[in-house]
Amino acid sequence: MIRKFSGQTLLVATHNIGKLEEVAHLLEPFGIAVVGAKEMKLPEPRETENTFVGNARIKAHAAARSTGLPSLADDSGITIDGLNGAPGVYTADWAETGSGRDFEMAMSRAHDELLKNGTEQPWLAQFRCTLVLAWPDGHDEIFDGIAQGHLIWPPRGLDGFGYDPMFIPDGYNVTFSEMDRWEKNKISHRANAVEKFVAGCFG
Ligand code: IMP
Repeated sequence: MIRKFSGQTLLVATHNIGKLEEVAHLLEPFGIAVVGAKEMKLPEPRETENTFVGNARIKAHAAARSTGLPSLADDSGITIDGLNGAPGVYTADWAETGSGRDFEMAMSRAHDELLKNGTEQPWLAQFRCTLVLAWPDGHDEIFDGIAQGHLIWPPRGLDGFGYDPMFIPDGYNVTFSEMDRWEKNKISHRANAVEKFVAGCFG
């Protein structure tokens, strides 16, 4: 049995305003207050696990323990079939330069490695998002979201972020970067996980 959310306030353990707004928007019909990690002046814990769920649990439990509020955290990234699931939890790390993140470099690396190992097209890939809702008593619930698709080269589109310009979701012929933001937000891995969270904890 999935534990239902019964409080007045949900803490969303992210410093990313976009993610906070997305969750707040989807929870509007339930009339609960949503607060972010920045507002609560929470530190960002180190993500030391090697799975999405492991890192999401670190963030959700740290926030629930220090605030006494049920806390929602996510971890996300892209998995590429031809690279045995890489970069996976290291998606952001592939873009690290020492002085900020460079996603053109990260996308080039993915492309170079697919060419180097001779992976045939279509280059299948998935964006993944794991959401964890943790309560102060240590209980948690886990929801996995996925967006299936394939990678293209060269990248296309100006909107979005991260690996969006090289990812075409199944059923479309445009990249996440070429899509209207609201359309992407309807079919994304994050939307998929949030839908499962809402159905599980508020349904
Ligand atoms: P985090 O979960 O915020 O740590 O995100 C991990 C990394 O996954 C980000 O830095 C992005 O590179 C990538 N990522 C997650 N979601 C998306 C997305 O919707 N589009 C493009 N890249 C994404």
